[in-house]
Amino acid sequence: MTYTGRFRVWRGDADGGSLHDHEVEVNEGEVVLDILHRLQATQTPDLAVRWNCKAGKCGSCSAEIDGRPRLLCMTRMSVFAPDHVVTVTPLRTFPVVRDLVTDVSFNYAKAREVTAFTPPAGLAPGEYRMQQVDVERSQEFRKCIECFLCQDTCHVVRDHEENKESFAGPRYLLRVAELEMHPLDVADRVDAAQDEHGLGRCNITKCCTEVCPEGIKITDNALIPMKERVADRRYDPLAWLGRTISRR
Ligand code: SF4
Ligand code: F3S
Ligand code: FES
Repeated sequence: MTYTGRFRVWRGDADGGSLHDHEVEVNEGEVVLDILHRLQATQTPDLAVRWNCKAGKCGSCSAEIDGRPRLLCMTRMSVFAPDHVVTVTPLRTFPVVRDLVTDVSFNYAKAREVTAFTPPAGLAPGEYRMQQVDVERSQEFRKCIECFLCQDTCHVVRDHEENKESFAGPRYLLRVAELEMHPLDVADRVDAAQDEHGLGRCNITKCCTEVCPEGIKITDNALIPMKERVADRRYDPLAWLGRTISRR
């Protein structure tokens, strides 16, 4: 089925912008990114939109569709009624560069703050051995495509610029959890998660999990287990007693 769809697309830059109305041809099987490409080809050749793979794998085409963080290339037009006005806006949590392109360098700064994988001293690459169950657990976390939709949706930093310095966001707390659960990693991740990466700010709303296009159970499998490890270390009375005695 081919029809004329109605779209509202945000145009502007760091100084501000506005929504622009467009009518664009929609064909069967198309996704929102197809529509934006048709818009570029027929009406707005200077519309800025970032994308690469068009297969849900590069994480470049993140934006908000009707206010919800989504991948433009994985959102089928068939989920909207033909008379629905589809609104496309840039990720709200990050500064706009132009139109639908945002500056996501916050995420790269947070990535650098996570201590790299730290194997035991004396264990050379090639000598690593680990159980299959541990391999499988970290494989879920390694499906992340760094689309930053979880970072965009988390209320701790969405509309709260002041929290960005002290909060790594779900994607990088996930990375901390992945390394903490790695049987060969010897770096301290538990205190760092709480004190350096802001784990305590997460109040497990699960919005990050809901928007993850890879279906990673960020809250249940990474954030809550990390919170449990923090609680075990800091608030378990027996562990506290043991630490107190051993310090004597
Ligand atoms: Fe995207 Fe999911 Fe990775 Fe977050 S965890 S960056 S939502 S793929
Ligand atoms: Fe934010 Fe996810 Fe926690 S949305 S509050 S990091 S559960
Ligand atoms: Fe690569 Fe959408 S273009 S995920």
